[in-house]
Amino acid sequence: MKIEIDTGRIVAEIEELAAISDAEAPAVTRVVFTSTDVKARAWLEGRCAEVGLIVRQDPVGNIFARWSGTDPSLPAVGTGSHIDAIPNAGKYDGVVGVLGGLEAIRSLQRSGLRPRHSLELLMFTAEEPTRFGIGCLGSRMLSGSLAPPAAQELRDGDGASLDEARERAGIVGDLGAVELPLGYYKAFVELHIEQGALLELQGIPLGVVTNIAAPASLRISIEGEGGHAGAVLMEGRRDALCAAAELILAIEKAAQDSPAADTVATVGMCDVFPGAVNSIPSRVRLTADIRDTSLERRDQIIRIIGSAAKLIAETRHVSIQCELLNADAPATCATSVVEALSQSCRKHNFGFLPMVSRAYHDTLFMSRIVPAGMLFIPCRNGYSHRPDEYASPEDIGRGALVLAETLAVLA
Ligand code: GLV
Ligand code: MN
Ligand code: MN
Repeated sequence: MKIEIDTGRIVAEIEELAAISDAEAPAVTRVVFTSTDVKARAWLEGRCAEVGLIVRQDPVGNIFARWSGTDPSLPAVGTGSHIDAIPNAGKYDGVVGVLGGLEAIRSLQRSGLRPRHSLELLMFTAEEPTRFGIGCLGSRMLSGSLAPPAAQELRDGDGASLDEARERAGIVGDLGAVELPLGYYKAFVELHIEQGALLELQGIPLGVVTNIAAPASLRISIEGEGGHAGAVLMEGRRDALCAAAELILAIEKAAQDSPAADTVATVGMCDVFPGAVNSIPSRVRLTADIRDTSLERRDQIIRIIGSAAKLIAETRHVSIQCELLNADAPATCATSVVEALSQSCRKHNFGFLPMVSRAYHDTLFMSRIVPAGMLFIPCRNGYSHRPDEYASPEDIGRGALVLAETLAVLA
């Protein structure tokens, strides 16, 4: 059985998909359940159907494209990732795992393989937290990590519920049907760009992920008192943005003071009300993203942020509410998948680095219900979540080949 990857086809498809975007090229913006996302989904379904995969969509919009094995009663082997993209993102995050996964399956079809287990490509809904504030919406629900009533509480920035947003995108059905039955998959493998620069710096072409860091996020609301920027003197002001500034620095310091370099904390959003040059800010909304490879250390940072918020609220006479949006456990990749990926690298004489994923991925949740693992390819300068994100055709083709080989072994 000879597996040949059509790298040119993957690259051409990455470009086609990148053109379905709400941002001007080379930037890509594709937020879940927008008309652009709906167009991209239809395009992907077309690509899957043209090679005979059986396509279905679940009620939260996860897409499954199946190549039936010789024994369809056996659990399937899954691969895939996401195609939603944060505002002003690049072309490769998630997309490499979906289109690389599709080409891996096509290459196995061409090779003459007759897999016993079905092979299934997945496109997960909303890996990015852009619209509903939590990441990995689709895989959280598939894995039973987010129950339908909690999902129905989610609102986007305009107040639309998940049900309203998905229905407007033409995605309907009972969310109770999303969770996968036990034993649905035998294994799951996700191909992804590294989103860091370790592979590039060390000149190693592939990364085999052993662990995924534990992410958490907070929504913070600060209420002070507004007023005229000229008329209200400094004494006794309750400026919400000044309180936010102190809190942002306290969050940064909490991560800097951690004994481990693995601890990171980021305030990525700051919404100031009323947002006028001559008005004292009365309300500020922040988000905080906190991650670590250790759950205990990550949770300690959340506690430190809580104490800092309390102190700043007291000294500045403002109110600060911290709402925990998610606090997920880290994942350990399955030895069986790590071993299959490593063997495939060895078979092709490709160097590989066992590594920790500091970004989260749908595999974080898939690993709760199925033996799962990830394969990383380098991306230029480690850039990701920005328009100049780039992975070379050579690296993409190599990743797809190792993925295909691994799927063949597992199936
Ligand atoms: C995923 O995009 C992450 O933020 O790690
Ligand atoms: Mn991303
Ligand atoms: Mn991603």
